[in-house]
Amino acid sequence: MITYRNIALSDHQAIEDFDLRQDDHGEIFCKDELDEIFTRENSFVVYQAFVAVDGESIVGYILCMIPKDYPKQRHILRCVVDKDYRRQGIGSELISRLEPREVGHKVTIEVAHEEYSELAFLRSNGYTITSMVEDEYSEEGELEMEGYFILTNEKKPPMELAQRLKWRMN
Ligand SMILES: CC(C)(COP(=O)(O)OP(=O)(O)OC[C@H]1O[C@@H](n2cnc3c(N)ncnc32)[C@H](O)[C@@H]1OP(=O)(O)O)[C@@H](O)C(=O)NCCC(=O)NCCS
Repeated sequence: MITYRNIALSDHQAIEDFDLRQDDHGEIFCKDELDEIFTRENSFVVYQAFVAVDGESIVGYILCMIPKDYPKQRHILRCVVDKDYRRQGIGSELISRLEPREVGHKVTIEVAHEEYSELAFLRSNGYTITSMVEDEYSEEGELEMEGYFILTNEKKPPMELAQRLKWRMN
């Protein structure tokens, strides 16, 4: 059975080992970096992470940062599920732990333009594309930075009755 919990300091090495086993070319979070971001003082952001665990093994995790001055927003840095455990709802369980529950709260994530499976996953979890950054090329025409979409899941205020009736009439 898969269980979900907050990350613990003792998970950091297991997460580095987990990331090294993955094939998604995503960022690898090494133990030292995780130790540093979760104990950093005087930072503008705080970090939050949840892990999915099967027995003793980490089979997925989600890591986000929250600006201290703007705690209504969270930005996902990584959401990943072990390739042998995908399409069982684990990614959705992890991302649901960050779901915005109060009006005005939102969660963002960056995804490369052609990552169709990630986009499909995010759409199925309530995210929509809210911005796009174009590819950047050098003067010689070489790709310098791959473009990406920013996707957002935002808790919107409920539609007013007058607006709901107007929409139903159209
Ligand atoms: C993206 C990722 C986290 C999804 O995890 P997961 O546990 O497999 O996702 P879920 O089982 O919760 O999928 C929920 C829904 O998302 C969509 N989805 C998930 N993976 C998909 C894929 N490869 N292709 C198309 N749709 C997909 C489907 O609608 C799926 O529902 P279904 O299985 O009933 O059809 C996982 O594939 C992964 O770790 N990929 C590599 C890392 C990565 O790309 N991270 C991106 C951050 S979003």
